[in-house]
Amino acid sequence: MKKKIFVALDFNSLDKAIDTSKKIKNEIAGVKIGTELYTICGSEGLREIKDLGLEIFLDLKLHDIPNQVKKTVAAIASLKSVNYLTVHTSGDYEMLKAAKDAAGNSIELLGVTVLTSQSNIQTLGIKNSIKDQIKLLANLAVKAEISGVISSAQDISLIRSVSQKLKIFCPGIRSGEDNQDQKRVMSYANFSKIADDKTFAVIGRPIIEGDPVQNIKK
Ligand code: C5P
Repeated sequence: MKKKIFVALDFNSLDKAIDTSKKIKNEIAGVKIGTELYTICGSEGLREIKDLGLEIFLDLKLHDIPNQVKKTVAAIASLKSVNYLTVHTSGDYEMLKAAKDAAGNSIELLGVTVLTSQSNIQTLGIKNSIKDQIKLLANLAVKAEISGVISSAQDISLIRSVSQKLKIFCPGIRSGEDNQDQKRVMSYANFSKIADDKTFAVIGRPIIEGDPVQNIKK
């Protein structure tokens, strides 16, 4: 079966990230490097992790004016270490298109829709329900021709109603343990029943805290 899990290496140390990656690399599709680890290890660290033979998902969640996003995506593309990069779909079409122009075919862009830690967007003045907002943002991703979106596993069928082609990466995977700051969650068992070929799980703390080898088996 195709490997389905991207592990979030949410560490403040490159050594810890490499050690964990080596232990589980045969069980996973790739690793996700977020703002914390990237701040510590920079592009050199990305290269070291890439050399382990894993796909790299750089989760910088870019959200800025189009020109700045375009230049940042071009800089990341020039590193030649990154397979997937996140941008916020709420940056709107022009920003997404600028990102796509810079990424070309060298990086796959993934658009964050509504964070899995958010369960109330009315506090932001957004009148749409979460589902309607996700649909709107997924449509923007399609229009800008980016590769995929980040969304809760609870939204997989909604996103598939928008597009059969988008890749879907799902954080907020929890199997009965503490949900921590995640709100719109699903267990890995239920996720794997509904995930198609283009749908992946993004899992951090349930794997990296404690023994990652045992946690992956669980
Ligand atoms: O530890 P946990 O499994 O909650 O980690 C989820 C990871 O996915 C974190 O690295 C977080 O930054 C990321 N993420 C998320 N929700 C999004 C996009 C990314 O939780 N919408």
